[in-house]
Amino acid sequence: MSEHHVPVMLKESLDLLITDQSGVYFDATLGFGGHSSEILKRLNSEGRLVAADVDTDAFSFSQNKFAEKSGVSLYNFNYSFIDVIAKIESIQYFDGVLADLGVSSFQLDNPESGFTYRNDAALDLRMDKTKKITAADVLNTFDEEDIANIIYEFGEEKNSRKIARSISEKRATQKIETTGQLVAIINDLVPEIFSRKTLSRVFQALRIYVNDELGNLKLFLENSLKVLKTGGRIVVITYHSLEDRIVKDFLRMKRL
Ligand SMILES: C[S@@+](CC[C@H](N)C(=O)[O-])C[C@H]1O[C@@H](n2cnc3c(N)ncnc32)[C@H](O)[C@@H]1O
Repeated sequence: MSEHHVPVMLKESLDLLITDQSGVYFDATLGFGGHSSEILKRLNSEGRLVAADVDTDAFSFSQNKFAEKSGVSLYNFNYSFIDVIAKIESIQYFDGVLADLGVSSFQLDNPESGFTYRNDAALDLRMDKTKKITAADVLNTFDEEDIANIIYEFGEEKNSRKIARSISEKRATQKIETTGQLVAIINDLVPEIFSRKTLSRVFQALRIYVNDELGNLKLFLENSLKVLKTGGRIVVITYHSLEDRIVKDFLRMKRL
């Protein structure tokens, strides 16, 4: 399982993050512990690492991985609770906060997770399985217009209305419960050369909506500032323009 996620921009992100070897750091997206391991390598025995992940599989894996390490506290929490976690840990300020957004390759590649259009699986897309609404719930119960708006807003997909219409027609005869059913609907609408890009955008849109990824990111940034030392660092690795815009707007607004 350790090979299931290769941490990206490891050196670049940590060169920016770590300013004090005895400092206290927060890894908001623990995943399989790639960035966390590297943070620990760069800290001395006084340094501390606190990390969080909403995904139970990732959390359990990393809990085992770091079981023997001292100065490490892990939380199966949403990262937007960074200020609450700091309070629980009696930490007034972090020296640095890291977020490597999105999903891990394990989540993407796991045939049962339903995060990808490449495998036929239940259409779920929740990272936090305690959340109530799955992607299938969205497609089967939301108004056609709301589905179109989600696909447009979070997938930046220009065929959003056509796709939502087709979903609405299909669900009238059969509930949409699997990734395979959604793939078939899109493949019927979009020429094959474009279908992979459209599928990526639609799955991204549903994932962002179901996990409230942008709402969590905004809250996380706001709450991070409450517990970040003056002169401390926030390092965020983003994967698409929606996340990127939120982070840049936030930094501009706060004049950081
Ligand atoms: C790209 S992976 C991080 C991989 C990690 N840096 C590593 O080296 O293994 C993103 C992780 O963030 C987690 N995640 C996404 N949204 C989250 C949230 N709101 N709160 C906590 N974790 C979240 C996902 O479950 C996933 O494990």
